[in-house]
Order: sequence, then C-alpha cells, then structure tokens
Amino acid sequence: MSKQIAQGDYLEMFTEFTNQLQRTQTEMIENWHDPMGVTMNSFFEFAEIANSAVNQIAQQHAVAMESFFPNATINKRPTGSAVTVQPDTGHVAVVTGGIGGIGTDICRSLAKHGNKVIATYISFEAERAIEWQKERLEEGLDIHVVECDVTNFRACKKMAKELELQFRSVDILVNCAGITRDATLKKMEAENWHAVLKTNLDSVFNVTRSFINGMVKRQYGRIINISSVNGLKGQFGQTNYSAAKAGMVGFTKSLARELADGGITVNTVSPGYVGTSMVEAMPKDIVDSIVAKIPVGRLAKPSEIGDAVAFLAHTNSGYITGSDISVNGGLFMG
Ligand code: CAA
Repeated sequence: MSKQIAQGDYLEMFTEFTNQLQRTQTEMIENWHDPMGVTMNSFFEFAEIANSAVNQIAQQHAVAMESFFPNATINKRPTGSAVTVQPDTGHVAVVTGGIGGIGTDICRSLAKHGNKVIATYISFEAERAIEWQKERLEEGLDIHVVECDVTNFRACKKMAKELELQFRSVDILVNCAGITRDATLKKMEAENWHAVLKTNLDSVFNVTRSFINGMVKRQYGRIINISSVNGLKGQFGQTNYSAAKAGMVGFTKSLARELADGGITVNTVSPGYVGTSMVEAMPKDIVDSIVAKIPVGRLAKPSEIGDAVAFLAHTNSGYITGSDISVNGGLFMG
C-alpha cells in the first residue's frame, strides 16, 4: 500500500538534504589545507552524509511518485551504486583475486550487502581490471580495484597501508587469489609446485599479516580464506593445489584461536567445482566424470560461493570461527 506524502513535505525534505550536503562540502573545502587527518575525516564524513542523503532522496522520491501516480509501477530501488545496496554490515572489504571467476561473485555479494569492496588484481590483468570495474558499475556496484602481487610481502604491506589510509579501516579480508598447475607428481615441475604454493598459500600469510594489526587494534575483523574441496579430500593431479588449500585450513584454525577473544573471526569457504574458467580449462571428459560424482548433479554457480562468504562476513556471524563452509554439492561430506 502506498504511503501518501504531501508535495510540500517532499520539497522540504529535498531542500534539507541539499543544505546538509552544501554545509558539509563547505566544511570540507575549509579544511582542505589542514593536516591530512582532518582532510580525510571531512572527506569521509562528506561521503557518508552524501550517500545517506542520496539513499533517502531516492526512497522519498519513490514514495512521492507512488503518491502522485498511484496506478504506476515504481521501482523503489533505482540503479546506481549509492542506492542499490541493502543496508547491512557497511564495512570495508578487500577481496584478493577479486576480478576472477569466484572473486567477482564474492565482490558482488559483499557489495550488495552494503560493504565498500576493493578487488585486487595482478599487474598483467590491468586492462581487464578497468573493464571489470566498468562492468560492475553497469550493474550498479561501485567497486574499487587495486593492483597487488599477493606473492610479494612488501607489495601487500604497501597496499594495506594505502588502503587503510584511504578507507580508514579494512574490516573484511577475503583471500581468494589462486591458480592451478595440475600434473601428477611424477611429471610435476618444481616451478609449478612453487608457483601454486606461493600464490595460493604464501599469499594468505602476506595479505593477512599486512591487515591483521589494524583489525586487532579496532577489535573487529572477518577473515575468510577460499580453500577447496580438494584441500579436504585430495585430488588426482593436484598435490600442489591440495597441499596449499589444506594449508589454508590449518592456517585458518590456528589464527582463529589466536584472535577469538578480539572480535575477529577466521573461517574457510571450500568450494567444490564451480562454473568458472578454471574448471573450463580442464579436459571435458574429466569434468564430466567429476560432475557425475556430485550428488547435486551440477557445477556450483559462482554466486553460491559469494553468498557463503557474505554470510561469514556479516556482523552477526561473530560466533562462527575456525569453521569451514563446504559449498560442494555433496561431492565431499567428510
Ligand atoms: N584416478 C586414477 N587414475 C587416473 C585418474 C584418476 N582420477 N585420472 C587419470 N588417471 C590415470 C589415467 O587413466 C592414466 O592411466 P594410464 O597411464 O594407465 O593410461 C594416468 O592416470 C595418467 O597419468 P598422467 O600422469 O599421464 O596424467 P595426465 O598427464 O594424462 O593428466 C591431469 C593428469 C592433467 C592432472 C589430469 O588427470 C587432470 O586434469 N585431472 C583433473 C585435476 C582436477 O580435478 N583439477 C581441478 C581443477 S579446478 C580446481 O582446482 C578448483 C577447485 O578448487 C575444485
């Protein structure tokens, strides 16, 4: 049922928000030459007020339209990043490998739950990252992208420092960057062992270590490590990948114990076989033989992984730590 509001009330509300925006903007300009901290605070206050004002204007606009045109179908959530998100945790989230197959849907889910999301990419993906960011904007999601080689500890520390300065805090960290270099051990080159361990496991140390002090200081954090069904059950041709993914599980449980009394949770999400380029790169007959063993009878959709991550990232999930959510269609129930 539509709520009737008078045209005068609507205009008054609009004017009030406009004035509020102008006052904040003036204050921001006055502080422009002040020390960095003051400028940053003013900027963020401005951004928060602007975001809230745009949301409220959009909502009131929809109510007013409904009131003036009762028979029309009004979309109450217009597209545009400031208004498409549903109020939820409202935290800042970093997703490593965020522009990848699973990473994209993790970013989508976190953004749709009201978080400010930052996706990392590696230097050779720079062009793709710009395209990716545009695609997300077209979906109404304003996601920040940042280049970082997660195998390089110094690069991770630098990224963390810059993001914490720019966004004030990073509250959610999703370690999703990963690669495969499948081969049976008798054929595996040492470089393919090291590449997988460095990208999939060393990166978890590099990135988490770089953000952890801030979370400890603020007594709040959600760390979610993307492991794999094959880290839990092993897989023919994946000694490197399974070792790295199993290593993430051990890392997660240990860190969860270290941080449990400090408001920080650490968990894994273990996807099964997901319909992404990583699985598409496998020989079709092998994929078919694996799908035949999945009780649910299909590959996972990337959004099904994103939703599990968003659940663990939520403020209300503070009692879940050192756990794993397996999203594998029943492929492994160990
Ligand atoms: N179990 C037992 N034997 C198997 C087997 C299996 N699953 N798969 C192959 N073999 C046998 C073959 O029949 C063959 O036997 P013969 O020598 O007697 O003919 C032998 O093993 C082949 O061994 P090779 O070392 O020559 O293997 P290959 O070079 O032909 O292929 C491989 C090896 C590339 C690893 C291939 O098996 C493969 O692609 N496996 C799938 C690996 C996989 O599941 N990757 C997942 C990628 S997606 C991902 O990782 C995301 C996630 O988190 C799930």
